Amino acid sequence: MGYSDADAAALYDVLNKWGPSDDFYLSYVMGAASVLDVGCGTGGLLVRAREDGHTGRLAGIDPDVAMLDRARKRLPDAEWVEGKAADLAWVGEFEVAVMASNAFQFLVADLEESLARIRTALADGGRFVFGTRNPEVREWESWNPSNPFDVVDHNGRELRMIYHVENVEGDAVTFTETTALRDNTPLRTDRATLNFLGVDALNAVLTKAGFTVEAQYGDWDRSPFKSTSENIIIVARKL
Ligand SMILES: C[S@@+](CC[C@H](N)C(=O)[O-])C[C@H]1O[C@@H](n2cnc3c(N)ncnc32)[C@H](O)[C@@H]1O
Repeated sequence: MGYSDADAAALYDVLNKWGPSDDFYLSYVMGAASVLDVGCGTGGLLVRAREDGHTGRLAGIDPDVAMLDRARKRLPDAEWVEGKAADLAWVGEFEVAVMASNAFQFLVADLEESLARIRTALADGGRFVFGTRNPEVREWESWNPSNPFDVVDHNGRELRMIYHVENVEGDAVTFTETTALRDNTPLRTDRATLNFLGVDALNAVLTKAGFTVEAQYGDWDRSPFKSTSENIIIVARKL
């Protein structure tokens, strides 16, 4: 038994349907002639941009080979690069960089290097747009085996997703995601560490990296950030 990386990438798309956050990011993508999607995953944002008539340069980078394969198949005329944000090698080429669906939270030990590379990849005055879960809301506390949820995958297979937080150390939350059968038999377990930075820490790290925060929202409708907001949404500009 087991569940392949390709199946996990397809399941990602089943679990992550288009939503208000995607509309938010899409508005910045459509307004820019050249776009870099950092942690692009299966490429859904750039695929939609092309479908909606974006004729400019679209590029995505992601370390997950199976996710990126899926992106390549969906949109062959974009540039898809295997790697992490800290591996970015472009210089001054993009009007906008985005990190959608909380991909920003995957930047932990390599956060400063990643921000430096994203800044370098941007053209003068370019924007970096991303969101991150608000640590004040402590969303990870609901990621436990007593809150599983059921899903039917792309092959019609009935599955159960089970989450378990292993460790909270400072701002870093390490958890597992187990893809299981409905009788809880595990098929695969993935482990990730997410960075939960608050507003002050985000502002400090962005300033240090050479960005200015142009706008900060608490929701995808651009309402102002409050301490109870689920998300911290930032539009930063390269200085
Ligand atoms: C939650 S997914 C978001 C995918 C996509 N942005 C979306 O909106 O569906 C997070 C993505 O970040 C990628 N990732 C993990 N570490 C990364 C890093 N250091 N740099 C860039 N991407 C990373 C993962 O492989 C994964 O595809």
